[in-house]
Amino acid sequence: MGIGSKWYRKSLLTITGIPMVEKLSTTYGKGLASRFIAGETLEEALKEVEELGKLGIMATLDHLGEGIRQLSEAAAYKDQYIKLITGIADCKANSNVSLKPTQMGLALDPAVCYANIRDVVKHARRNRNFVRIDMENTPYTQATIDIVRRLHKEGLTNVGTVLQAYLFRSEQDAAELLRERISLRLVKGAYKESDEVAFQKTSEIIRSFKRIIGLHLENRAYTAIASHDDEIISWVKAYARTKGIPKSAFEFQMLYGLRMNEQAKLAKEGYRIRCYIPYGVMWYPYFTRRLAEKPVNLMMVLKHMSGR
Ligand code: FDA
Repeated sequence: MGIGSKWYRKSLLTITGIPMVEKLSTTYGKGLASRFIAGETLEEALKEVEELGKLGIMATLDHLGEGIRQLSEAAAYKDQYIKLITGIADCKANSNVSLKPTQMGLALDPAVCYANIRDVVKHARRNRNFVRIDMENTPYTQATIDIVRRLHKEGLTNVGTVLQAYLFRSEQDAAELLRERISLRLVKGAYKESDEVAFQKTSEIIRSFKRIIGLHLENRAYTAIASHDDEIISWVKAYARTKGIPKSAFEFQMLYGLRMNEQAKLAKEGYRIRCYIPYGVMWYPYFTRRLAEKPVNLMMVLKHMSGR
């Protein structure tokens, strides 16, 4: 990533959270966001899961919401996730679920957050489903890992989390969670983090990402590699081939609306590929992060807006 794109990402991530910008975007930006969001309702999202299933693409559904202000909102999101898991089971959709810990109340009351997530994971277990706890910014890293560990200790093993390759700590976390057989999604990392805790250079992030992926694949831990980056995807394919790691031992993951042709191509090649499908009315922070990641995403949205 050059200096220009780093500046682009930082400035967009900085405007996220400013109430006036948020208000303008929620008023005018819904049409733009539809490129990355499957709809506002569960029904619309399940329809997309069905369509992608026809192409051999699996799904993880995310009911959008983060940074809530009251615990009653967390309770409402928990109920939405219970509904979502029931909805997936009812239509036998090939999808698990992804949720954000702050959406379940982590910033307000960690004990309530834990109880909310446990209810969701228990409901998922009853329905033979799996819950992925997304990783947010560093104030929540340790607490998120602790939640997953505690659930596993309680025997709820149908839950995993995410490690971000840009964090210095992630290699150590990856080794420990591997020993504890906790399922991980591996990503580069999407938030603005300081140089005290995170690599800033793309080359360093990629090196860290490859080290963590390699560690997992080599130890035959089922691994989810979430990236749109051809360098990473080609590297994983070559690494697996060289080491004799079967395609069933890992999955690729990409976001809804990004590289959909590549997702279908991977499925055709016999790789496991899962699409992260967000839906719901609280799309603004998610949408801004996608724009902040790549100028190409903004270009895609602008083209879409002008009808080309
Ligand atoms: P990156 O954006 O670094 O781009 C590298 C290269 O990939 C580009 O130069 C280009 O060649 C190619 N490329 C990228 N986007 C493209 C596009 N739209 N079209 C064509 N080519 C493109 N983060 C986090 O902090 N916590 C989390 O829980 C998650 N969860 C998560 C789930 C899933 C399924 C995904 C895919 C990602 C996340 N992330 C995340 C986000 C992640 O940390 C990261 O910010 C983004 O995936 C962007 O990094 P990439 O490796 O995808 O490519």
